[in-house]
Amino acid sequence: MISIQSKLSQSKPSIFSIMSALSAKFNAINLAQGYPNYDCPDALKDLISYYLNNGKNQYAPMTGVKSLRQAIAQKYSQIYNISIDADTEVTVTAGATQGLFTAITAFLSQGDEAIIVEPAYDSYRPAIGFAGGTVVPYPLGKPDYKINWSEFSTLISDKTRLVIINTPHNPTGKIWQSSDMIALQEILTDRNIIVISDEVYEHLVYDKAKHHSIMRYPELYAQSLAMYSFGKTYHCTGWKMGYCIGPAHITKEFRNIHQWNVFSVNSFLQYALADYMADKETYESLPDFYGHKRDLFEKAMKGSRLKPLVSEGTYFQLYDYSHLSTESDLDFAKRLTRDYKVAAIPVSPFYTNGTDNRVVRFCYAKTDEVLLEAAERLCAV
Ligand SMILES: Cc1ncc(COP(=O)(O)O)c(C=O)c1O
Repeated sequence: MISIQSKLSQSKPSIFSIMSALSAKFNAINLAQGYPNYDCPDALKDLISYYLNNGKNQYAPMTGVKSLRQAIAQKYSQIYNISIDADTEVTVTAGATQGLFTAITAFLSQGDEAIIVEPAYDSYRPAIGFAGGTVVPYPLGKPDYKINWSEFSTLISDKTRLVIINTPHNPTGKIWQSSDMIALQEILTDRNIIVISDEVYEHLVYDKAKHHSIMRYPELYAQSLAMYSFGKTYHCTGWKMGYCIGPAHITKEFRNIHQWNVFSVNSFLQYALADYMADKETYESLPDFYGHKRDLFEKAMKGSRLKPLVSEGTYFQLYDYSHLSTESDLDFAKRLTRDYKVAAIPVSPFYTNGTDNRVVRFCYAKTDEVLLEAAERLCAV
């Protein structure tokens, strides 16, 4: 038999696959995996059908369809009052995951270090490992998951090539403040370190809070790439469509790798998204839409013995059960799925060393009825 030496020998099946399989097995309500149980907008589907039936079915340009890159550049130029060049600063990707993988492997070499803020989205670590880099985690803890910037700065070494940040943050639902971005900017000034800013939940911020995109901080943006996902914004996670924005010289090298790992992405979806995103309402309504769901779920969970942590953004909320049980978060999440028929995600797999703070994550991107039913079941815990 052929012998295979895995380049990712530490890699295990993702916790999302494990909990979703368990959810299906016990016929539970799946609040584990982060996707909506409702459909994307009809107007967007109509546009897709139009372009699919009108000949937009061949290879798109490597960097993305021009009308879509222009729509993206216009959106951010307006929101952040800066100038984004559609030709040199915007690249359409096959979801944020491909953008992240491309950026990490483009800028990290054997022996380099990448600092990530944990709990961290699960695709960062394998990509860093694949590039031959070393993960340097900065661990955050409950209840407020706040960064101490002087502690953070001690992680920087001569080998640091990348810092990966994520706001609004999966899984904690925290959002970074201006003071965080300024602290990061000060630490990284004059250092040859690239920041990858994962902003896939950019529009999912509540209570009139502001999303602190890296693009609001010109000095920081000058050494950064920002990643976005249409899946989160338009309720279409299954399409795996996203984009990457960064200064021209960084984007040039990003594209150098992008062209060899995907070349270009789905053409007719790009034309449709270009038309659809021109209407600001499509994304400006999201804070109200998801803010309502967050409030509904949290109110319905008031009768539960699980303690909510604050969800300022994303469509996730952490609940603390440490006063109820000494079970590991994985065992607790499995028990919720099996005995109460609601699936959650344990947070320990988001840490390199498996730190278990006895919290689980629920996804509230579900219809109101489903959220109410899930909360009723959890009130019996
Ligand atoms: C923080 C974060 N980054 C990136 C992604 C991946 O986005 P996409 O589905 O567009 O690849 C996700 C998806 O859950 C996420 O939560």
